[in-house]
Amino acid sequence: MGMKPSFLRLAMLCIYSLASIFPAKADQGMWLPLLLKQLNEERMQELGMKMSAEDIYSINEGSLKDAIVSFGGYCTGQVISEQGLLLTNHHCGYGVIQSHSSVENDLLTNGFWAPSLEDEIASPGLHATFIIRIEEVTEKVMAGITEDTPEIKLESLIETNIAKVSADAIEGTHYQAEIKPFFNGSEYYMFVTERFEDVRLVGAPPTFIGKYGGDTDNWEWPRHVGDFSLFRIYAAPDGKPAPYSEDNVPLKPRRSLNLSLAGIQPGDFTMVFGFPGRTQQYLTSDAVKLLVEETNPHRIGIRETKLEIMDQYMQASDRVRIAYASKYASTANYWKKWIGESMGLESYDAITRKKALEAEFMEWVNAEAGRKAKYGSVLDDIAAEVQKVQKGNVAYQYLREGLVRHDAIQYFQLLYALASIQDTGEREEYLVEAKRFLKNFDLATDKAVLSAMLDLYRENVPSTYHLSAFAKAGDPAESFYEGDWLSMEWLDEYAGNPRAHQKALYDLTALEMVAEIQEFYSTARGEVNGPQAKIDALTKIYIEGLREMNADRAFAPDANSTLRVAFGSVGGMEPRDGLVYRHYTTLDGVIAKEVPGVANTHEFFLDEKIKMLAESREYGRWADEEGYLPVNFLASNHTTGGNSGSPILDAEGNLIGLNFDRTWQSTMSDVMYNAEICRNIAVDVRYIGWVIEKYAGADRLIEEMNFVNEPMAAE
Ligand code: ARG
Ligand code: GLU
Repeated sequence: MGMKPSFLRLAMLCIYSLASIFPAKADQGMWLPLLLKQLNEERMQELGMKMSAEDIYSINEGSLKDAIVSFGGYCTGQVISEQGLLLTNHHCGYGVIQSHSSVENDLLTNGFWAPSLEDEIASPGLHATFIIRIEEVTEKVMAGITEDTPEIKLESLIETNIAKVSADAIEGTHYQAEIKPFFNGSEYYMFVTERFEDVRLVGAPPTFIGKYGGDTDNWEWPRHVGDFSLFRIYAAPDGKPAPYSEDNVPLKPRRSLNLSLAGIQPGDFTMVFGFPGRTQQYLTSDAVKLLVEETNPHRIGIRETKLEIMDQYMQASDRVRIAYASKYASTANYWKKWIGESMGLESYDAITRKKALEAEFMEWVNAEAGRKAKYGSVLDDIAAEVQKVQKGNVAYQYLREGLVRHDAIQYFQLLYALASIQDTGEREEYLVEAKRFLKNFDLATDKAVLSAMLDLYRENVPSTYHLSAFAKAGDPAESFYEGDWLSMEWLDEYAGNPRAHQKALYDLTALEMVAEIQEFYSTARGEVNGPQAKIDALTKIYIEGLREMNADRAFAPDANSTLRVAFGSVGGMEPRDGLVYRHYTTLDGVIAKEVPGVANTHEFFLDEKIKMLAESREYGRWADEEGYLPVNFLASNHTTGGNSGSPILDAEGNLIGLNFDRTWQSTMSDVMYNAEICRNIAVDVRYIGWVIEKYAGADRLIEEMNFVNEPMAAE
């Protein structure tokens, strides 16, 4: 079908006043697909959606949800061809691409495009999971539970019910079922899933496209990154999930998305369909204060130190650069996120706003005796528990972020587990894991990081938590590495013989420090998690009160890595007085950001080929109506981590973009969403098409995709 003639588009552009590049219309919330009909359909249509709720989610008819997968359990992906081609972000595929890379065959740096199906690379450990259906199961989960059920029995009753309900739901099928609490346990929903474990790498742009601007541009706008990669889901010949096998065939999906080349205009309806990980919309003012004033500053500081050290060592060696690429990126990611989140919350006066809401709530509560009895003390009780969290919080952050997650400490635990496993099959799995760890390990880097972590720990954590190593002379990190246990030779010597292995471990000096760290960690975690569990239970009551107080308003549950829909519209914003973010960027901007140099030495490298292609300006069907090649765009959908790789769909359910990020201050939306500030960032599908076709020449992939709304000029 042809698109509107371009003069019409131009005319439309002129009618838009500047104000309308900021779509004020967007709603917060990550909504459950099965409730869209009841809660959101009307509002979504008011914002321009041309579909019905059933087009998005239906259990009887095919619907868009059949094209959406959880990618590896940490990102989202979508099927974009009848042969199971899967699109997700480059940063979601990053670890997998890295695992197939070496100094000689560096897929991260050079990109990878499988010339044929046979060349697609099996990626063990990776999976893609579809949602078959979602069901509310609150009553079943609460069966046998009354007001009088003692609290200590509650949890085990719920667990037993959950186990039974999910087992019943999948009996006689090859599906899995997962039941999760919503609104802190006011409601329960079950997700019946189908999980495919043969997922192969098909294509990835070189890092300078897929991660252009690197950590400098991360969480920023204007953005110019082709953050996408392609995989393919394989199934047994009968179409069912199967572990990797040469006999497997590309999956024939129930649904695949069409890709629209119509382009985007400010105000256009958009929706994001994916698996957002975690939000905390219902934090009280005290909890936000703790986050902004204590938790965030400490964990930001810890990561800053780690990053500086890793960077030094990565710059100095190609091997370390590749080995630490993924670790560095993921450490940098939330380091910067927390900075933006605190900034956003502070400049939006989140604490004051939360306080105002709490005052309003208390006024409503105090207006009636019944409410008073039920909700009268809930906010005070939460505040008291937040106080208690503070007791172990700082130690907990340093132990967790700085020590427990430290590479060599994790590896020690892995060796320890390995030594006690009897089952040879299981031991083999741990061994594979240990070898993978060593492949991405560098002793000098690790030492330098641990030494710095211990210094920070000593400076910031109360002395009751100080390690005995601090009392000894010299650098406490030094003795930790004695005994050569971080080498492949050590692993080879002991891995086959658990008893000798155990004995060798007991001889290491590292043992004492790791044991002590574990002990402190479990104490600090208890100090934090005890009151935190109470806060969670109290928050369930608080949310019930808020919902009762606003009975005519739809409430969205916090994200919990389940399938959700967010909706909003395309549009820029004004981050500061006088500064306007246009809603899209182009290849011209990519070129303008270039810093000449050598691949991998900095984040704004471009190769000759992309520069030549850009100069030719022959963008073909991928160009916008003015002849530019669109790269990234902004929209106001409420998203979070886990929404990476989520499709951005237009009013008709066509794919227009691939979600990969938010602007910096927007990250406050994990705690508080505001439509004027919060923007998610997507790769325009036209840039994806252009990179695949013009840059990579991977025509076979373009051919399997279904493009709609072709611009007239190219027809
Ligand atoms: N900020 C995005 C997300 O949270 C992208 C992260 C990957 N990119 C990077 N430059 N580290 O995942
Ligand atoms: N990049 C994030 C992810 O990996 C999504 C962006 C966000 O947090 O909004 O899921």
